[in-house]
Amino acid sequence: MTTSIPEIILNDGNKIPAVGFGTYKLKGNEGATAIESAINQGYRLLDSAYNYENEGTVGTAIRRTSIPREELIITSKLPGRYHRYNDAVVTIQESLYRANLDYYDIYLIHWPNPNRDLYLEAWQALIDAKKWGLIRSIGVCNFLPEHLQRLQDETGVMPALNQIELHPFFNQEEQRKWHEENGVVTESWSPLARANDVFQNNVLQEIATTYNKTVSQIILRWHYQLGAVAIPKSATPTRQLENISIFDFSLDDQAMQAIASLSRPNGRMKGQDPAVYEEF
Ligand SMILES: NC(=O)c1ccc[n+]([C@@H]2O[C@H](COP(=O)([O-])OP(=O)(O)OC[C@H]3O[C@@H](n4cnc5c(N)ncnc54)[C@H](OP(=O)(O)O)[C@@H]3O)[C@@H](O)[C@H]2O)c1
Repeated sequence: MTTSIPEIILNDGNKIPAVGFGTYKLKGNEGATAIESAINQGYRLLDSAYNYENEGTVGTAIRRTSIPREELIITSKLPGRYHRYNDAVVTIQESLYRANLDYYDIYLIHWPNPNRDLYLEAWQALIDAKKWGLIRSIGVCNFLPEHLQRLQDETGVMPALNQIELHPFFNQEEQRKWHEENGVVTESWSPLARANDVFQNNVLQEIATTYNKTVSQIILRWHYQLGAVAIPKSATPTRQLENISIFDFSLDDQAMQAIASLSRPNGRMKGQDPAVYEEF
């Protein structure tokens, strides 16, 4: 059985599915089997990263399915240690070799690392790699509005999307508003907050009972109604299908507000504030 997922349009005119598949920790043969299963169940947007060391696994999974390459939207990310222009260009090429792909649909800067202050060089490399046909859409992860504005001011190119930590305990209201006003699509990482405390939350459990859906489906439908592209990861085929079976119901305002009330200022899972947190 496959489920079809609605699409949204990026500021560069390219389209992506409104829900994607996270691949962090999916590696090797088991990982490839899980990713292959996700594609066969209807996922078309895959999220990988150079630092996940699984671009090869993603490439292998793609080739094991019969889905044509042009129907898939494959994402990878540039690590913090390769922000220098020349390093970034080589890393994009290396990312492609690892996956055995000719192009990535989306390539993102993984973290801004503002104290190192090299993300502008990295951005210029992504802009050029797009011109050379190595990438179709370019974006970032974990950029605060001030970082995004600087990219626009210095290069004239606003990222197509920004992948940020977003789940019911940290709903990023202000950042989402800024994205909306500036034509940047919000993509939610750890959309299920890694399935820890959220699944025990009474408010979410009550809403799930009311709608006769699972807590996971309620959370993912909430992302969709916020206009954010969630990329849940699951190695479990039944959960993979559950997580994209969210287009036959709609949460009312009361449910949306009840979920909004769960957010807290310190709700990041590991306190990774992009203003100070660095990842290489
Ligand atoms: N840009 C960044 O800095 C950044 C940071 C973190 C993550 N990401 C991306 O975001 C993706 C998603 O985030 P994540 O992997 O951290 O966490 P997540 O998707 O919020 O949660 C994954 C966990 O939820 C479980 N799960 C999934 N569906 C479920 C369901 N229906 N019922 C119960 N449990 C369920 C999975 O278990 P099973 O696998 O055992 O089924 C797994 O343990 C990552 O894979 C990665 O691609 C990006």
